[in-house]
Amino acid sequence: MITKPTIDRIMEATDIVEVIGEFVQLKKRGANYIGLSPFANERTPSFTVSPVKGIFKDFSTGKGGSAITFLMELEKFTYPEALKWLAKKYSIEVEETVESSENKEEDNRRESLMIVSGFAAKYFHETMLETDEGKNIGLSYFKERGFNNETIKKFELGYSPDQWEAFTGEALKQGYQEAFLVDSGLSVKRDNGSLYDRYRGRVMFPIHSFTGRVIAFGGRTLKSDKNVPKYVNSPESDIYHKSNVLYGLYFAKKAIREEDNCYLVEGYADVLSVHQAGIENVVASSGTSLTAEQIKLIGRFTQNITILYDGDAAGIKASLRGLDMILEAGLNVKVVLFPDGHDPDSYVQKFGTSAFKKHVDDNKKDFILFKTSILLKEAGNDPIRKSEVIREIVESIAKIPDSIKASVFIKECSYILQIDERALLTELNKMRQAKAKKDHQQQQQTPRQQQMPDEPHFFDEPIVEVAKDESSQEKEIIRLLLLYGNKMIDWDGIANTYIGPFMIAELSDVEFEDTTCKQFMEIYRQEVENGVLPEEQHFIHHRDKGIVDLVVNLIATKYTLSENWYEMHKIMVPDEQANMKATILGAIFHLKKQKVGKILEGLRKELQTTPAEADQEILLNQYMHMKKVEKTISDYLGSVILK
Ligand code: UTP
Ligand code: MN
Repeated sequence: MITKPTIDRIMEATDIVEVIGEFVQLKKRGANYIGLSPFANERTPSFTVSPVKGIFKDFSTGKGGSAITFLMELEKFTYPEALKWLAKKYSIEVEETVESSENKEEDNRRESLMIVSGFAAKYFHETMLETDEGKNIGLSYFKERGFNNETIKKFELGYSPDQWEAFTGEALKQGYQEAFLVDSGLSVKRDNGSLYDRYRGRVMFPIHSFTGRVIAFGGRTLKSDKNVPKYVNSPESDIYHKSNVLYGLYFAKKAIREEDNCYLVEGYADVLSVHQAGIENVVASSGTSLTAEQIKLIGRFTQNITILYDGDAAGIKASLRGLDMILEAGLNVKVVLFPDGHDPDSYVQKFGTSAFKKHVDDNKKDFILFKTSILLKEAGNDPIRKSEVIREIVESIAKIPDSIKASVFIKECSYILQIDERALLTELNKMRQAKAKKDHQQQQQTPRQQQMPDEPHFFDEPIVEVAKDESSQEKEIIRLLLLYGNKMIDWDGIANTYIGPFMIAELSDVEFEDTTCKQFMEIYRQEVENGVLPEEQHFIHHRDKGIVDLVVNLIATKYTLSENWYEMHKIMVPDEQANMKATILGAIFHLKKQKVGKILEGLRKELQTTPAEADQEILLNQYMHMKKVEKTISDYLGSVILK
């Protein structure tokens, strides 16, 4: 377990805007920051970060929490993984005590896979730089391809010796477990149970997660034998899902945000050469066709993608259709072709950075226009083929969610295609209607998402949310504890008390029903008993996700009022601080009244079903007693609140 002092130091160092800013483009809006949700595909920002409170809230998915919660949600980190990531970012040394849990292995499975992958990257890298075989074969290959030391170091390039068990043997010697070696794909199991190296005599490209940890490898053969696969890649594993990884993204994301554009290339070598040339906003889909997840990943940093193709005509045509996906995601796509026989790697290595940039600038075409001209050229003068082309182009344009953008394309395509603009528009509208109908049907089948308002202004303006669930009174108590627990209340100049301990004492006889609320009260009570007044931050950074969710929901939507509270008193929210006494007592007594009401209801039911007269009398006495309690509470509420 990571020690408490270490956790405290990490919390202190963490700047939530800085952390989330690594993954989401944030814009300042008042005291807060807003951006597009990294958890949903959206065009109107509903993702808000409050630096003052150290929390984020994503109104399109309902997720919210601290920087730690954010990393856990996004990277699927465990709590300790997220802490370690932050510790690394802020150069904080992590102190750990020995884990006593028996589930350690299970908990740390992903962590172990990452650790063994990190070890492998280091092993391959050092083998390349320090052994004769590594230097003569691996390093000299990379040098020949024009990669300098800085690039080799930054991307942790390496070499795996041409032996069956060089890596596996070393890993086992160092105590890494067989299971993780096999599951990460670094080693392969023979029928007799022994292990051998997957990558033998290959140069190694570690693949980093976009938080910078090694999660997989690509290994390139140095042989030109056609029967040997050129690249051997890691299999899918718990830490590596090919479809949502982009090679180079970790090293590119800062530049992508700054340049507001992402270059998309095909191979490892392309990324390395273009990056080395000083154009750092470059990533590769690594041989697979682009997936929706990868597009979403890019969309977190920029809305602009420029695809750099090598000039192989067949390949281009095959990928055209896949690119509609990018349009659908609302991103702008441009395309650049390289002269036959060149890919971005060979071009930039041969002609240099400025020639490369010039080529890109001179040749970049908007995807729709690019597609139109390619298909049109292919159709020639055949009128049937031509009408198919028109249909296909309009289909692409129909996928663009922004209708102004779409109509600009219609205009340009009408010119290129020599077709009346109105005819194209009619076709476009037909397709859009069909699509809207389909979307509508799908929406009705899937459960409704949390409603998202147009503009996220949740931390700034009071929102009166009428909570209807049973636990709303309990939550109201917790909200007040969070907001005012460490403040003093003045009982008409007679005495001052802290609100937190006062409320805890007043509610000591009330059992909370909602399990998370109950857990919260228990934590709060314990802290108070230890002489501490727990602050918001204590709960925001709590290890239990249920607690974090509860707390963030309560403080992100600042004013969650219970229905009857609002209706009975018609008070507007900003009054609550002015009349603190009424607010606090009101909440306490409303909750008590609710509980009493429940008890009364229970007694009524019992009375109806209990035939024995003696029992009836006892029940009736209890009932009368509770009725009195209820009346006292009501009177109290009336006098305190309404005066
Ligand atoms: P390329 O064949 O264009 O490779 O495949 P490259 O990166 O340009 O390599 P060099 O320049 O010949 O050294 C593009 C990408 O497709 C994937 C790799 O990710 C490669 O970088 N690929 C290719 C494979 O995964 N397996 C293969 O057998 C071939
Ligand atoms: Mn190449």
